[in-house]
Amino acid sequence: MEGKTGYPIVPNFIAGFNGVVPSMARLVLTCARVLTKQFDPLRHGFGVANTSVAFLCGRLFALCESDLPYEVKVTEDGDIITLGRHDFGSIEPFLRMTAHPKIDKATGEAFCYGYDVKCAAIHDFAVTENYVVFPDTQIVMNPWWILRGRSAVGIDPDKIPRLGIIPRYAEDERGMRWIDAPGFNMLHCVNAWEEDGGGAIVMVASNIVSAEHIFDDMESSQLTLRS
Ligand SMILES: [Fe+2]
Repeated sequence: MEGKTGYPIVPNFIAGFNGVVPSMARLVLTCARVLTKQFDPLRHGFGVANTSVAFLCGRLFALCESDLPYEVKVTEDGDIITLGRHDFGSIEPFLRMTAHPKIDKATGEAFCYGYDVKCAAIHDFAVTENYVVFPDTQIVMNPWWILRGRSAVGIDPDKIPRLGIIPRYAEDERGMRWIDAPGFNMLHCVNAWEEDGGGAIVMVASNIVSAEHIFDDMESSQLTLRS
């Protein structure tokens, strides 16, 4: 769509809001594009699908967590064709899915999660033999910040990061156990497994050391590997 018009149309919810006036101008412009049918988010989606790619259920997907996965096809001459958004036939409708689904190579199962913009911004997770681990970090999402001219994604310095551990096949949140993890703002999980017969979970993950700068000054925000 943007290739056809020659300029960006799809709003960027992380970097696209940098002041009340420009944010409002972009909002008005986006509304005008929807009204003139130049941008049809209900039909074509609103995601940029630029975060990762994953091969799930025999299909290739381009993913960004602001929207559902987009199924793509690579043609014989190397072109990439978008086939459309996919919700995997979910009974419960959802609008956004993680860009980092996990495949259990032993069983062939795929694990994904969807989330609402009102919750914490959970970018990645971990799956072990019997558990799933979700990080709840200081990176939070607050759409109201857009009205203050800030990005909808930012840092809550007063929040204590924590890890949520839930049985792998839990049907609801009742089995979730939360463990405080001060100073651990996990961004990506490299790997996770169980030790001591399932009594311990080891997770190797990247940690944002100075989270307060992650969005405005990435140069001074360090990432370390932690387990
Ligand atoms: Fe990522």
